[in-house]
Amino acid sequence: MMHKQISWLKSANSALVPVRVITFYLNEKCRLPVVLPNLYKRMHMSQQVVISGVGVWHPKESITNEELVESYNAYVDAFNHKHADEIAAGDVTAMPYSSAEFIEKASGIKRRYIYQKDGALDINRMKPKIAPRADEELSHQAEIAVEAAKLALDAANVSAQDVDAVIVSCAYTQRAYPAIAIEVQEALGIEGFGFDMLVACSAATFGMHRAYEMLCAGNAKRVLVINPELVSPQINYTDRDSHFIFGDVATATVLELADTAKGEHVYDVLSTKALTKFSSNIRSNFGYMTRAEDVDPYGPDKLFHQAGRKVFKEVCPLAAEHIETHLASHDIAPEGVRRWWLHQANINMNTLICKRLLGREASQEEAPIVLDEYANTASAGSVIAFGLNHKDLVSGDVGVLCSFGAGYSIGSLVIKKR
Ligand SMILES: CC(C)(COP(=O)(O)OP(=O)(O)OC[C@H]1O[C@@H](n2cnc3c(N)ncnc32)[C@H](O)[C@@H]1OP(=O)(O)O)[C@@H](O)C(=O)NCCC(=O)NCCS
Repeated sequence: MMHKQISWLKSANSALVPVRVITFYLNEKCRLPVVLPNLYKRMHMSQQVVISGVGVWHPKESITNEELVESYNAYVDAFNHKHADEIAAGDVTAMPYSSAEFIEKASGIKRRYIYQKDGALDINRMKPKIAPRADEELSHQAEIAVEAAKLALDAANVSAQDVDAVIVSCAYTQRAYPAIAIEVQEALGIEGFGFDMLVACSAATFGMHRAYEMLCAGNAKRVLVINPELVSPQINYTDRDSHFIFGDVATATVLELADTAKGEHVYDVLSTKALTKFSSNIRSNFGYMTRAEDVDPYGPDKLFHQAGRKVFKEVCPLAAEHIETHLASHDIAPEGVRRWWLHQANINMNTLICKRLLGREASQEEAPIVLDEYANTASAGSVIAFGLNHKDLVSGDVGVLCSFGAGYSIGSLVIKKR
């Protein structure tokens, strides 16, 4: 008698390789298992997927904490003055002042880039003023996606024509369809296919996960994953708790198989790992349903809002455990990681997560923080940290790229410099 089964073996580079195990039952007591390569699967699965290029683009304009707080506090004065009688009668709560010192201490943020500064600091507006574009024009989000894509393609030493799949993955897309990814594909002259995906703070890592799988499956040869995080239109600049958190940016990565990679700094993707756990502690309710619900489509609950303390308490242990488990699957201890490219929501979150993993604080060299300049850029944060801090690693150095946030969602990649 004979029994066939597909199993998995760990190869020398820690990638899981499928094998075919055929067990011959010679008699009642004696079995002879024979391990053979699973030839069909091996064609693709044994090939190493790499990140061969990364690009970080940011808008020209930025807003410092001081500028932001000055505008917010002027808005507060105007609001409290306008509602002085109701406030005195106890019918309206007076708005409290914000403070630049608080923002830096509580978050690590000193300034943030913004796609269109005009309007955001105007106390009669409190939102950026972005000119609408005709259907025939390149959309705002596709435009910044293209900027980041070009930088990533340059870093990977390839042209747009060498790409056959585009994933635009971010916290918000400016429309439902046609996909921003397909618009980018058209703008760059890419043959193949593209699609959008939204996974809030983990959109970038989850997008890279999908690229990794498409390459493993042989469905694409070179994938461009772009994260055009145009978040400023969703910020409630009149909310003291969140007006300082976000900045605009676009990042992109090129993923392909090792044999075709031509970039100067190429990283093997050892594996990917994802986790989601439903929570309403970070929410944005804006969507197409609001039109039918007869509610204010721009009310505070339609914009970004969060229970920041709860997020902090719940996400940090989840992220630390996730990373530890992911590393353990490669028999790598946290001490064996040369660099941590972590999600950039809050400096104190990253300090805590590193302490849990390493038993001590990580240095800026080990776990770079980009919050001071970029603020929280939704899913792009860990990619910015990677993009700006990966060239100095040497062959064999291991790093962890990890996002955590709304959903909740956590996405990681364990990568190794070639
Ligand atoms: C948002 C965040 C930075 C706030 O920091 P925090 O230390 O938790 O601050 P709290 O909200 O507890 O507020 C502490 C005090 O500062 C006050 N405060 C809040 N915002 C303020 C501001 N802009 N300026 C001055 N004071 C402020 C609060 O009212 C509170 O005062 P109280 O103690 O008298 O009640 C932090 O909770 C956080 O990073 N959370 C999760 C991560 C995140 O940002 N995720 C985003 C999506 S990924």
